[in-house]
Amino acid sequence: MTLKIHSRSIFAEISPQSVVYHASLREKTTFRIGETVGAFFAPFSREDLITVYRRCLEENLPIYLLGGGSNLLITQPLSGVVFSLKNLKQITRQGSFLQVGCGISLIGLIQYAEKAGLGGLEKLIGIPGTLGGALSNNAGGRYSSISDVVWKVHTLEADGSLRWRTLEECGFAYRHSELKTSLLLEAILQLKPDSSPEALKLAKIEVLSEKKRTQPLSAYSAGCIFKNPRGFSAGRLIENAGLKGKTSGDAMVSPHHANFIVNRGQASARDVLSLIEHIQFKVAQREGIELQPEIRFWR
Ligand code: EPU
Repeated sequence: MTLKIHSRSIFAEISPQSVVYHASLREKTTFRIGETVGAFFAPFSREDLITVYRRCLEENLPIYLLGGGSNLLITQPLSGVVFSLKNLKQITRQGSFLQVGCGISLIGLIQYAEKAGLGGLEKLIGIPGTLGGALSNNAGGRYSSISDVVWKVHTLEADGSLRWRTLEECGFAYRHSELKTSLLLEAILQLKPDSSPEALKLAKIEVLSEKKRTQPLSAYSAGCIFKNPRGFSAGRLIENAGLKGKTSGDAMVSPHHANFIVNRGQASARDVLSLIEHIQFKVAQREGIELQPEIRFWR
């Protein structure tokens, strides 16, 4: 999809290095599935970000917010602009509080906190993506969720206004937040002071080795496809339905962990979507449970 010439004026006086027109999105997702977008925009300053965001609103151009591309299935070519905060990832520390740009990768943030002797993030190791993406979906695992350490989040709201949201105003729940339509600029996280870097490292290694044992971490995937229904493990339900190893084109239900769909190379969005529907149908038929996707779709 290309951006119409007159729409390119939204990038007037904006650093040209921050814009790629007619950009391919495949390599920007951990699934390695994606089509093109009118423009991919990764600003170097918050001012540029806000300016272009508001111009998109004025021009009625579709806006897509990309975190680390790790929980996402792009199903078709997109008109409009993809915003990425990959160049906005500053960290400032005040005691046990960190003020962090939402473009930072979760792994980079965990490393910083470990060196600084600040606890609370180490068990989120193995989750790909950025802080912004993690906040927007309240990413987490068995031991903790990102919401456990949030104090405030600075947002650019869907109407173009700026706002500091308190923890309550973020509306976090299991793999859910009220932040999904906002662009997340930065967050203030409250961590545990006086944690020993060695102990944080050990906790991190333990969680990571458990994940490596149970999840296909090195394959192209979008992480867990479905949320766990209350009281059940989606992975176990899918395995019990006999679907481990089930394929559709190059998409396959991981034999390693059944709540992952892996791309064996050339899987299309259609392959993944048909596998998702098949899984939902089989699990509903067998268990009477409707699995809800955890990943996001850009369609
Ligand atoms: N299980 C099976 N078959 C499978 C997969 C799992 O029987 O194919 C069983 C396991 O043996 C275990 C139970 O199901 O008894 C739970 O499995 P696991 O410990 O792997 O945890 P999970 O509930 O499947 C959740 C998160 C993961 C997170 C892990 C570890 C969700 C949907 N998933 O998985 O998050 O990494 O805990 O903390 O909440 C993600 O969100 O993308 C994700 C991968």
